[in-house]
Amino acid sequence: MLNSYEKIMERTKWFRQDRFGLFIHWGLYAIPGRGEWVKTYEKMTNEEYNQYFEAFNPTEYDPKKWAKAAKKAGMKYVVLTAKHHDGFCLFDSQYTDFKSTNTAIKRDLVAEYVEALREEELKVGLYFSLIDWHHPDYPKYNDWHHPMRGVATYQNETIDFDNYLDFMHKQVEELVTNYGKLDILWFDFSYDEMTGEKWQAEKLMAMVRKHQPDVVIDNRLETSGEAFGSIVSAQPSNYSGDFFSPEQLLPPEGIKNQAGQPIPWELCITMNNNWGYNPMDKDYKSSKTLIRKLVECVSKNGNMLLNIGPDAKGRINQESFAILNDFEQWMNDHDESITGCGKANDLPKPEWGYYTQNANILYAHVFEQPIGPLAMVGLKKDKIKRASLLSDGSEIKISNSWTTKAFDDVTYLEFGGVSHYTYPLPNAIDTVIKIELFD
Ligand code: GLC
Repeated sequence: MLNSYEKIMERTKWFRQDRFGLFIHWGLYAIPGRGEWVKTYEKMTNEEYNQYFEAFNPTEYDPKKWAKAAKKAGMKYVVLTAKHHDGFCLFDSQYTDFKSTNTAIKRDLVAEYVEALREEELKVGLYFSLIDWHHPDYPKYNDWHHPMRGVATYQNETIDFDNYLDFMHKQVEELVTNYGKLDILWFDFSYDEMTGEKWQAEKLMAMVRKHQPDVVIDNRLETSGEAFGSIVSAQPSNYSGDFFSPEQLLPPEGIKNQAGQPIPWELCITMNNNWGYNPMDKDYKSSKTLIRKLVECVSKNGNMLLNIGPDAKGRINQESFAILNDFEQWMNDHDESITGCGKANDLPKPEWGYYTQNANILYAHVFEQPIGPLAMVGLKKDKIKRASLLSDGSEIKISNSWTTKAFDDVTYLEFGGVSHYTYPLPNAIDTVIKIELFD
């Protein structure tokens, strides 16, 4: 019998190999274009928000294009908002009318998405909101996230929260039974007293695991990603999830449980500052930053889930595409230093960048140009079988330069023919040296 930690590690085996995924926030909120929280930010009633339901007609929706873009960018899995907090379903739920099949597009968009991913051999992930701002039995007046918070009409209303839970569980059951094998189920999110057993999480998880024993699940039945939840404790709950899900913040180090064992984690981040489509938000991070952050995640045994927010027609906008294309360029030459890799064994973080490692292959990710040869602190010369530039296989020599003599315990690698020369880095984003080590 595996203990709960071993089960988590077993289930996440592929997840910890794959390392890089695409997050897609898409729904009615692409129409106002002010982010997926627009309904509550602007305190819209269901009637007001309904205009977007009426208008929803993403004629350009072609999940094959999304899947191809993700695949080319080197991503191995994708997570789509099957339902976000606004309650609108991109799938044909029999428990609500508030779904894509009842809009002008009339299609089960999740079904098409799932199929497109499988065609590209990408792992299939669905995001499901535990919160529902459309359902009449979800708490409103005192719920500080709800669009109707503080609205007098709802002050004394009685709701049947059990009815809501029944509905929510049934929708999850639809997702885990109607779309074949799911690889990831991404619940979002818990807050205040709305956590764990308030969601009847034991029961929910038992149902999910009955249908999808291997699906990898985040930790947000207990948190909103700002806390670890019981996954780090000695006795994780059965709904602790399989990974920690920090949001817009890269943990300073890898994550460990109380016993000191590393636990899986995944950083989710936006390209600009919005999850849902926002044409006015032009604060895109550079591709260089994003690629380097992926490397940093892997160097700390983590994954990165990079978000796009397709527009109201279903298209990925120019800026996001450009970033995905830059990933494609870099990943084409450097995928093996990401996929299957994790934290390097027993080496300090180098001053010039990061290491990743896969078995006895060490990858030096060089961000900063050295003066002369590159110092590999903590790595002994006799450990190195050979070193080469990952992008083209060309030789990288161990330096015997007179300049290095004072630092005898450090191995130096040189990029060009003259050991004391300084050469421009071959890849300005991240130059990767592949270092084969003796066992
Ligand atoms: C949040 C937000 C949200 C987004 C998610 C992604 O907690 O509520 O809109 O979907 O994080 O991690």
